[in-house]
Amino acid sequence: MRAKRFLASVLSFVLCAGASPVVSAHAGLSADNAAVGAADGIITDEHSKISGISDTENKSKTAVMRTYNTVGGSVVTIKLGDINGDDVINSVDASAILAAYASLSGSNRNSGLTAAQTIAADVNMDERVDAVDASNVLSYYAYTSTGGTLPIEEFLKNNKKPPVSGTTTAASTTTTAKVTTFTTSSAATTSAKAVSTTTSAAPKTTTTTAAVKTTTTAAQKTTTTSSAAATTTTTSAVTTTTKPLTTATTSSAAATTSTTFTETTTSAATTTVTSTSSVVSTTAYDPYTVREIKLSKTEMELEVDGAGDVSYVTMFPKTADNREIWSSSDERIALVDNEGYVIGVSEGNCIVTVKSFNNPEVKADIKVTVKDPNKVNEIKLSKTEMVIPINGRDISIVRMLPDNAKNKDEIWTSSNPAIARVDDLGYVYGVSAGNCKVSVISAQSPDVKADIKVTVIDNNTVHEIKLSKYEMELYVGQKDISIVEMLPDSALNKEEVWTSSNPAIAQVDKWGNVVGVSAGSCLITVVSEANPNVKADINVVVRDIPATTTTTTTTTTTTTTTTTTTTSSTTTVLTTTAHNIQNIGGATYIDGILVVNKTYGLSSDYSASNLDQEVLTQFAKLSQDAASLGLDIRCASGFRSYSDQEKIYQSYVARDGIIKADTYSARAGHSEHQTGLAIDVNSIDYTFENTPECDWLAKNAHKYGFIIRYPKGKEIYTGYNYEPWHIRYLGVEKAAEIYNSGLCIEEYLGITSVYK
Ligand code: DAL
Ligand code: ZN
Repeated sequence: MRAKRFLASVLSFVLCAGASPVVSAHAGLSADNAAVGAADGIITDEHSKISGISDTENKSKTAVMRTYNTVGGSVVTIKLGDINGDDVINSVDASAILAAYASLSGSNRNSGLTAAQTIAADVNMDERVDAVDASNVLSYYAYTSTGGTLPIEEFLKNNKKPPVSGTTTAASTTTTAKVTTFTTSSAATTSAKAVSTTTSAAPKTTTTTAAVKTTTTAAQKTTTTSSAAATTTTTSAVTTTTKPLTTATTSSAAATTSTTFTETTTSAATTTVTSTSSVVSTTAYDPYTVREIKLSKTEMELEVDGAGDVSYVTMFPKTADNREIWSSSDERIALVDNEGYVIGVSEGNCIVTVKSFNNPEVKADIKVTVKDPNKVNEIKLSKTEMVIPINGRDISIVRMLPDNAKNKDEIWTSSNPAIARVDDLGYVYGVSAGNCKVSVISAQSPDVKADIKVTVIDNNTVHEIKLSKYEMELYVGQKDISIVEMLPDSALNKEEVWTSSNPAIAQVDKWGNVVGVSAGSCLITVVSEANPNVKADINVVVRDIPATTTTTTTTTTTTTTTTTTTTSSTTTVLTTTAHNIQNIGGATYIDGILVVNKTYGLSSDYSASNLDQEVLTQFAKLSQDAASLGLDIRCASGFRSYSDQEKIYQSYVARDGIIKADTYSARAGHSEHQTGLAIDVNSIDYTFENTPECDWLAKNAHKYGFIIRYPKGKEIYTGYNYEPWHIRYLGVEKAAEIYNSGLCIEEYLGITSVYK
């Protein structure tokens, strides 16, 4: 689409310019003068009336030359701002620029100016002739009329500083400007040289010499001259482009001039003004030939049958014919009209191109992507994983997006139909045990797909193991178990195979009982015997049993003649036990107590052969006292030899495995029954628990010298499950002390019970 250009009327321009700093800031240009132009739209030359400076004086100070290489190679030298070529830059030139601007419109590119005049008129060098140029010329005219000496280009760069008062420019400044411009017809070599030398009278002299060297590039286009007497004439233009270095050098010259002004301002009475003159060799171009197209956007994304889009075009130079020629690289994808309006036809990519009608070699491209909003671009599934038995069936509900897609047909495939097959509706059937992938694609957009991970199981075979716990923290000697669920329920063989990654840290038996052996971490694993690929792990951390704490109760009594006060305090002491350990006759005595547990054993020939006499006596009393209360407490198991214990223990190992057996039965040489100091009463199982006898025994055994040896809650210390029926004789005094402490023997003595 054509970029709209707005033509301001001459009147509105002058009003606008009059309100802008460009005109109003100029010293010396009277309000009346501005108003004259505003009133009738024509700005007349009031120069001599205001400044009294002759045109001759003025023109020698403002030489800014531009060269224009015409078709055929001749060179026209143009003075910037001097449209009518009378060597004076004044309101007549501004008026000519306005007239040219008024002539231009979106369709009319004829300003009425020659190419050379067009270049001269473009004083701000933005490649267009417009009201801004006219305003700048007016401003400069006002500036020179009041003594300004800068060339117009420098004046515009320097934001139009007012001239210095108290200095007579004409009298104090001598300027020499030399301009050399040449161009051959076969090559485009241009140079410009400016030398400015100033001398002045006393009392102070400032001399500035500025040399500007301008280098221009070689021709960008080659000139071909016409052949003599031939009927064909070929012409070309020579384009000379100024290198950036040249511009910088020119600015340097301008800076020198600016400095001179500063000196004059600060010491006007005694300083002689020195001024320089610049000659600028500028870019020469054909103002009527398009050489570049710029677009507001170079990419577009459109929808099929959706709204169109445009990219706004700017052609350079703006003085050239700006008509456009539009085309699409693929009209099946996108169409473009003569105004550059692009619409999407079908999905895909193409290039829309705009060319200059004036110069078709100049073009610009737009990358166009067209998408179809009615096409499937995503598939969502209600499930992306399936577990189905052989001969079973399942389905995942499909949603094709967007919902308004025209064609939502599905195409289903299986990566392995020997494991699972899928029908046209998406039903998946288990064929044989294994894993595969079932996929659905859009019939309309085959690159849009979704997958289902399918596991086909044999219902008679375990395919999953679930555990009640996957983490265990144990003390050394403590046991735990994780309940196993083998799935499916219909599996024929649910046998478990247990292993420990490090039996020195934790052991596991064939029932899954785990026991801590030493501090550390390891993995306990259970696999299905029928399907060893199916397994589950337990992370086990084993810690040492914490240090024992002993509670000591101290009672202090203070007596006076009048009152008695009793104070009781409790102190908890963490003991670091220093034991008196003795080995006597194949047994270990710790602090005088015969200790038998998993750490401390008895030799196979330990001398006891029956229950100790004192034990028998004390148990008889206990039994009698209980009987007097109507309780029946009898000895069910007393002395057991090493070999007796060996048989008992091994029978349990055979039944429950080592790990489990170790939680309730002592290995041979580690049973208290071998000492003749231990008795199991009544039923040696948990039917004894919660009987009146059990309750009475727990509360009264110590009175007869016995303790409940394996109390509830002390398993991690004793190394055994709770046994309410097993009593151990210690003597009345020690039994009462330990009973009252609430500790088990291991805690009381600060010792372990762990098999080595
Ligand atoms: N039941 C206990 C621990 C033993 O076998 O001696
Ligand atoms: Zn026992």
